[in-house]
Amino acid sequence: MFLPQIKTAIPGPKSLEYAQKLALVESPGITYLSDKFPVFWQKANGLNIWDVDDNCFLDLNSAFGVAGLGHGNAGKVVGEQALNLIHGMGDVHPPKVKVDFIEKLVEILPANLNKVILSCNGSDACESALKTVQVYTQKPGIIAFQYGYHGLGYGALDLTHKPHFRKPFEQRLSGPTFHAPYPSCVEELEQSLEIIQEIINENKNILGGIIVEPIQGRGGVIVPPKGFLKELKKLCEKNNLLLILDEIYTGFGRTGKMFAFEHENIVPDLLCLGKTIGGGLPLSICVGSSEIMSAWGKSNGEAIHTSTFLGNPLACAAGLHILEELNKQDWPALIEERGQYFQAKLKTLKSPFIKEVRGKGLMLGIELVKDLKTNEPFTDLANYFLEKCLEKGLIVLTCGKAGHVISLSPPFIITEQAIDFVVKQFQEVFSEFEIIYKHEALVSFNL
Ligand SMILES: Cc1ncc(COP(=O)(O)O)c(C=O)c1O
Repeated sequence: MFLPQIKTAIPGPKSLEYAQKLALVESPGITYLSDKFPVFWQKANGLNIWDVDDNCFLDLNSAFGVAGLGHGNAGKVVGEQALNLIHGMGDVHPPKVKVDFIEKLVEILPANLNKVILSCNGSDACESALKTVQVYTQKPGIIAFQYGYHGLGYGALDLTHKPHFRKPFEQRLSGPTFHAPYPSCVEELEQSLEIIQEIINENKNILGGIIVEPIQGRGGVIVPPKGFLKELKKLCEKNNLLLILDEIYTGFGRTGKMFAFEHENIVPDLLCLGKTIGGGLPLSICVGSSEIMSAWGKSNGEAIHTSTFLGNPLACAAGLHILEELNKQDWPALIEERGQYFQAKLKTLKSPFIKEVRGKGLMLGIELVKDLKTNEPFTDLANYFLEKCLEKGLIVLTCGKAGHVISLSPPFIITEQAIDFVVKQFQEVFSEFEIIYKHEALVSFNL
């Protein structure tokens, strides 16, 4: 691991050049381009990223929660696989490695999660789950949660809540989907469960399932109170609904357990996985029991649910390798320990704008507000923080309903030395901001 080394202004001259080129050829609305953003990546290893200007960064987000075991971990295996077989015919003449991967995956899952549908993106896995609910229950209705995130394909988008993503496409979002409040503390639990019960009572004939993230990631690293998932499971059992856990972010150790459902001792009916398992290759999974998955019936040669790259050999080889690596040591315990260390250090940060530091394992968030009394989200500070961190060689993201939460989900291999360094840099950013903010307040009040 290297500590950041910044050699140019950020973004450097080459990054700026690439931004200009990209603006000419990529549809607007995809990559965010400004005079402060982005840096264009050239190579990566472990915790580090190097950009086209040879600046070295620390990745505190595992590139969207993907590089759990570090960047490049599966590189050699993927390279070897590529020399043998780069592409197969996933549901017609599948690559052998698809079988090897699935066999290994079900070994680490609870016994009744034993039938798998592979796909490429997290969004696809959620759509496999949605379709499974339909074929099994014959009912289309789903309860999802406010500020839940399940991806942006039309099916998954209908589960995702944030108006920013939904609004332009509302006309094609047919549902029926009901968004219940996601409890962020014990006090909110009862009301959330009551609303879910009401939705169930009023829509019994059309409801097939509930989809939930065990910890909301893009929604703002919201950790629900203990017992929430257990209560959802009970409600599902009582009302013949399927419980879908979206562990695309939380799965494979991220929260200090191999799967976040282990924190609550429950097993979902359907489980969606992605991100870490592909080691950087596009790989996602929906898993269910034999009984539930049997509702799909046998393929008659023309599968009603598949895609060109289903079971892609490179992705499956990477997945198999990641599973083998995860088996080599007690990663969840290590993640739990590192996570506690990181969280404790973050709690020493001094800023009048930090409402809360929270999270589980190495899925952490810092919520920023303008005023601790009004709790008004401080989105500008979050954006300032992002830019200043980038200038210091730290890659972080924002999340939350107003983009006011700093999202930290570093590779599991992060060291205490790196954490100490990072928190020191964070403090500098907060302290510098406080000075600017106070100064601007004085100027604007003409004092
Ligand atoms: C919980 C969760 N579900 C689904 C998705 C969508 O995954 P993808 O962007 O790979 O489609 C994400 C992505 O961040 C996620 O965090």
